[in-house]
Amino acid sequence: MIDPQRRAAYLEALGIDRWAARPSAATASAATDGWGELKRCVTKCTRCDLHRSRTQPVFGVGDQKAKWMVVGEAPGAEEDRRGEPFVGAAGQLLNAMLGAIELPRETVFIANILKCRPPENRDPSVEEINECLPYLHQQIEQVAPRILLAFGRVAAQSLLGTDTTLAKLRGTVHRFGPRQIPVVVTYHPAYLLRTPGDKRKAWEDLKLARKVFAELPTEV
Ligand code: URA
Repeated sequence: MIDPQRRAAYLEALGIDRWAARPSAATASAATDGWGELKRCVTKCTRCDLHRSRTQPVFGVGDQKAKWMVVGEAPGAEEDRRGEPFVGAAGQLLNAMLGAIELPRETVFIANILKCRPPENRDPSVEEINECLPYLHQQIEQVAPRILLAFGRVAAQSLLGTDTTLAKLRGTVHRFGPRQIPVVVTYHPAYLLRTPGDKRKAWEDLKLARKVFAELPTEV
C-alpha cells in the first residue's frame, strides 16, 4: 500500500485531485527460463547501427514476474548513461503516473521498444524497430504480464503493429500476442511534460487500465 502522502504527490504531479482505491490485484507467475540468455543477447547486440553510438543497451528494469508491464520508446541520454529506462525527467513523471494507480515503480517491469539510444533522441527508424522488437516480444513472453501499458505513439504503434494515430488508439483496449494480453495506450510522459494540459486525459487512460486489470479473470 502506498503511503497516502506519496500518493497525493503522485496525483498532484498528474494534476489530479480525486482518488478512488482500486481492488487489490491477484497474484501471477512468470516464466523466467532464458532471461539471463536474453539479457546477454541484448548486452552484446549489434543488429543495428545504434550499437556504435550507445554507451550501453538498456535492457529494462523491474519485477520479472510483474503483472503490469510498461513499454516506452527508447532510452534517452540519462538512460543511456545509467543503463536503466525512464530515469530522467520523463521517468519522474512516469513514476508519478504509476504511483497514481498504486503501482510503485519496482512492482512493474519497464522496457522500451528500442534498447539503444537513438542519437539526439531522434525517432527510432523502422529498421531499428524491426531489429529490436523481437527482444521486447521475448521479454513480454517471459514476464507474461497480465496487462501492458504503452506510453506514446512509437510504443503503441510498434507493439500493436499499426500506424493508427495515438489519439485513435487511446480509450480502447487492444490485445497483444497469443495470450491476448490487454494493452492500454496513453501519452508519453515526455509529451505530458511539454503539454501538461493533456495530463487529465492520461489520467483517464490510467483509470481505464486499472479497471481492465481489476476485471481480469482470476488466475488459476
Ligand atoms: N523515454 C522512453 O520512452 N524511454 C526511456 O527509457 C526514457 C525516455
